[in-house]
Amino acid sequence: MALAAADAERGAVLAGLGGCLACHTADSGQPGAGGHRIETPYGTFVGSNITPDPLHGLGTWSRADFDRAMRKGKSPAGRAYWPAFPWPSFSELTDEDVDDLWAWVQSLEPSARPDEPHELERGYRGRLKAGLWRTFVHRQREVLPDDESWSEEVRRGAYLVNTLGHCGGCHSPRTRLGREDATRRLAGGDTPPYRAPNLTPHADGLATWTDDDWSSFLDMGMLPDGDFTGRGMARVVNEGTSLLTTEDREAMAAYLRQLTPHPDAEPE
Ligand code: HEC
Ligand code: HEC
Repeated sequence: MALAAADAERGAVLAGLGGCLACHTADSGQPGAGGHRIETPYGTFVGSNITPDPLHGLGTWSRADFDRAMRKGKSPAGRAYWPAFPWPSFSELTDEDVDDLWAWVQSLEPSARPDEPHELERGYRGRLKAGLWRTFVHRQREVLPDDESWSEEVRRGAYLVNTLGHCGGCHSPRTRLGREDATRRLAGGDTPPYRAPNLTPHADGLATWTDDDWSSFLDMGMLPDGDFTGRGMARVVNEGTSLLTTEDREAMAAYLRQLTPHPDAEPE
């Protein structure tokens, strides 16, 4: 895939769906310059500077370095990234989407804002413990769901929802190790602060949603009762799903509507 064919504008739409700027921009900060704080049960992680600044950002990175970060979760120096960076979801991105995201990253205004250290919770603070956890998490590769019976449309929807959309990052229950539980995909996030509703077609979830309901939601964030979605979700719609093509939104809905229904996760 030649870099010349990469398209920064298309990359910007993908980045919107991927929420890159939401995590990599401080409140009222320069886009992509880092500083957004992500509170998790494992500690507070700070989104890094991903602008093309040579010292504090990705200015000296090659396309291969970017690819390794996005799809393998490793820095150019070989450090394993924390899964607060949802690279496990990005690991099945197509070459073309990685090319376009890379073109988009390079189009950002460079910023010399230095990265801030993450603050790990006490239980994970020990270097050894943290190292072991990270290694273990890294071994459990995310696998893009697929089924022979699926149409091209459902397959496309599965790709958008589970890779860039990383809807499961907030909407899937997690295992004790903090990974998304693939056996209860999108059955409702139980990890504060990412508590997010059950999206599966179960009575606890969205069993009653029609294609039209999905289309209004992904296009404008409107719920079937006429209310608008709030919190983290409004941004996913405004900067992500609303900018996709109608076909891509329909593909996401087609995939989401055929998910295995699950009841809400029991709170631990
Ligand atoms: C949920 C928050 C979140 C989202 C969404 C997110 N990131 Fe990140 N990203 C992080 C965090 C946190 C780190 C730092 C991880 C670490 O230091 O181990 C990171 C690290 C990175 C790095 C490595 C930077 C470095 O200096 O080594 C790159 C590149 C990156 N992200 C690109 C992206 C792109 C492109 C997207 C959108 C497709 C994206 N990220 C979406 C939170 C996020
Ligand atoms: C950053 C976390 C986050 C991500 C990523 C995310 N969501 Fe959400 N979502 C939420 C939260 C939080 C709510 C509840 C919003 C509220 O209370 O107003 C929500 C609400 C929803 C609802 C409304 C459900 C209901 O019962 O009212 C739907 C549908 C939805 N999200 C779909 C998606 C899809 C599809 C994706 C992937 C493209 C996605 N979400 C990605 C956090 C997220």
